[in-house]
Amino acid sequence: MNVTKFSMPQNLNELSTHERILRRTSEIIERNRQLTALNMIASSVSQSLNFNEILTTAIEHVLHLMEFEAGWIALLDRDCQCLLLNASQGLSEHATRLIERLNPDEAFIGTVARTGQPLIGEIPISSGDRVAEQFRREGFSFCVVIPLKAKGKTLGIMGLCCRRLRLVDRNSSDFLSSVGDVIGVAIENATLYRNIAQLAEQLKQQSDQLRASEHKYRSLIENAKDAVILIQDGRIQYANQSAADISGYTLDELYRLDDVLALLREQDREPMRQQCERLLQGGDAPTFDIVARRKDGQEVSLEVRGSLIEYNGQPAVQYIIRDVTEQKILREQVVRSEKMAALGQLISGVAHELNNPLTVMIGYSELLSMEKNLTGSVRQGLEVIQEAARRAGKIVQNLLTFARQHKAAHVSVNINELIERTVALREYELNVNDIEVVKELAPDLPQTVADPHQLQQVFLNLIMNAEQAMLEAHGRGRLMLRTRLKPPSPGTRSSSNPLIEITVADDGPGIPPENLHRIFEPFFTTKPVGKGTGLGLSVSHTIIQSHGGHIYVQSEPRRGATFIIELPIVQESVEQGEPKIELPPKRAASPKDVLIIDDEPGILNLLRQIVQDEGHHPETATSGAHALEKLRKKEYDLIFCDIKMPHMDGQELYREIKARNGALARKIIFVTGDVVSPQTREFLKQSNSRFLEKPFINEEVIRIIRNALADDS
Ligand SMILES: Nc1ncnc2c1ncn2[C@@H]1O[C@H](COP(=O)(O)OP(=O)(O)OP(=O)(O)O)[C@@H](O)[C@H]1O
Ligand SMILES: [Mg+2]
Repeated sequence: MNVTKFSMPQNLNELSTHERILRRTSEIIERNRQLTALNMIASSVSQSLNFNEILTTAIEHVLHLMEFEAGWIALLDRDCQCLLLNASQGLSEHATRLIERLNPDEAFIGTVARTGQPLIGEIPISSGDRVAEQFRREGFSFCVVIPLKAKGKTLGIMGLCCRRLRLVDRNSSDFLSSVGDVIGVAIENATLYRNIAQLAEQLKQQSDQLRASEHKYRSLIENAKDAVILIQDGRIQYANQSAADISGYTLDELYRLDDVLALLREQDREPMRQQCERLLQGGDAPTFDIVARRKDGQEVSLEVRGSLIEYNGQPAVQYIIRDVTEQKILREQVVRSEKMAALGQLISGVAHELNNPLTVMIGYSELLSMEKNLTGSVRQGLEVIQEAARRAGKIVQNLLTFARQHKAAHVSVNINELIERTVALREYELNVNDIEVVKELAPDLPQTVADPHQLQQVFLNLIMNAEQAMLEAHGRGRLMLRTRLKPPSPGTRSSSNPLIEITVADDGPGIPPENLHRIFEPFFTTKPVGKGTGLGLSVSHTIIQSHGGHIYVQSEPRRGATFIIELPIVQESVEQGEPKIELPPKRAASPKDVLIIDDEPGILNLLRQIVQDEGHHPETATSGAHALEKLRKKEYDLIFCDIKMPHMDGQELYREIKARNGALARKIIFVTGDVVSPQTREFLKQSNSRFLEKPFINEEVIRIIRNALADDS
């Protein structure tokens, strides 16, 4: 490269003393000026930490001081390994563009960046160097390019150009090197500052993000439906509002608890403590279920998930707790109702099968006992058979009630009155057994639509259970019967409408916790064989449920049992009660023709016997087709017809008869063991027919014959 090295000063010895003094003086002045300028550059560039400001100021000062016409500063970029222009003054737009981004190998000025050595001299002519050529084109002939250094490292270059050749002595050269160092240091400081500022900005962003995510996390936890608590050393260090809502304690009360395990049921404390311990030792603890006691004493089922965290530098356990009480109740209800439906079907089938033989047993033993010349022991035996068969019949009825799947027939009833009547039924036994009855019956209780017989059966079951339990426990007792209008309690599990609440409480032995979930199951009994069938409560449950109500129990061992029934208040009568069978005046004056249709020979023969004993002429048919044949040939005054028969059942036969002779259809008395099935009930209601319910006693058959014939005459 054609560069003129700077010229050395002339030999001082050749000058006169005066000239030497003058020259020294001017050198000192120049040196002074340079030092002042350097000082100024140093102070102005160090005043700013802004890159562009530093570099522009530096260029301005140097151009002014050195009387150059153009100047620029380009810094080395480590990423692209090139010189990037940062500040310039006095250069054309074209020249500026050329040096905007420069590979140090491409142009003559680049050597300074590579070698770290200054370049002072003429700008090369026709060197093929585009930068040099452009500078020349713009009339520049001389240039000074110095490295900008800090700690011995070249950070960039500063170039100065002028249109005439210049003499640059050693002083000026040293001065320019110093300027390069000063700017280098300022650049380094600014770079450091810039890095620190970037770091600070990053830190700020991170801490903003952290704060935002902490805020989000906190508000998530604070507003979570699940309870979140943090436990350290057995104490609650943090709890959210849901923890207070679920436990019924205020947050303050929770924080003041000495031992958080005290909130749990006794049997759950040890497992919970062990789980906590396992977590603290870094072990795994699966989600588990516990029961806690609210401040108001109510128990709540909780699903608890724990995890180990650090709190205030110490290990702590964070629990997320979900109240699953409602879920659990629903789940149990679903399981229970599925179980009940399956059981119901089974029971219903068995009960129907039992009905026919029972009816025959009751009927024939009654018929036999009417024989005049029976010995005492035979008569006694027959009575025992009758009694046993009736008891079995009652059980079948209970089973059918339990298995029923339709809504009961309802009329408007006064619950207080029903309770009074039920107590009256048991008055004698209660008195004899020294059981005090305390009644608290709300006088303002509204009427509700219900099935009075069924409700009475429920009350009777509860009272008899209480009686038996108290007697067995301490030979006496105190029975409490309470009714009240329960106001709606919005937001709770209870209904949002007022309810009638009936409480039957005793001071007997109570029900052990392990039995509490089973007592409503059919056939669950703790009583000896012959004393209890385990149907009382399941039947009661079915009845209350069919009324749209709930029945539940509260009991603790040795503290008695309290059964609570909640019934909805239904205002309108949805159905009239069954028409009552009036006692007939007397047996019909003349014998009548009675057709008995049943596929079951036992029932057929029994009815025939009763009809005959009543003085009429019975005839029998064992199927629908057989009956129709007989009906074609003869007119009958009364027809007994079984509903459930193979091929043509009672309902079909009725339709056939009705189509032929409407008046005859009204003479049919249906015999059924199936009054609990919705279809049968619907059919009986629609056809407005009389019916005899199996198992029946002979008196009922006689009564229904007399009634039918009396109506007909
Ligand atoms: N008041 C009570 N006190 C203590 N235990 C009771 C009480 N009521 C019911 N139980 C328990 O619940 C069980 C089931 O009662 P449920 O009325 O269904 O059948 P049961 O009384 O055994 O027989 P059934 O009522 O069919 O004659 C009883 O055997 C008894 O263990
Ligand atoms: Mg019972």
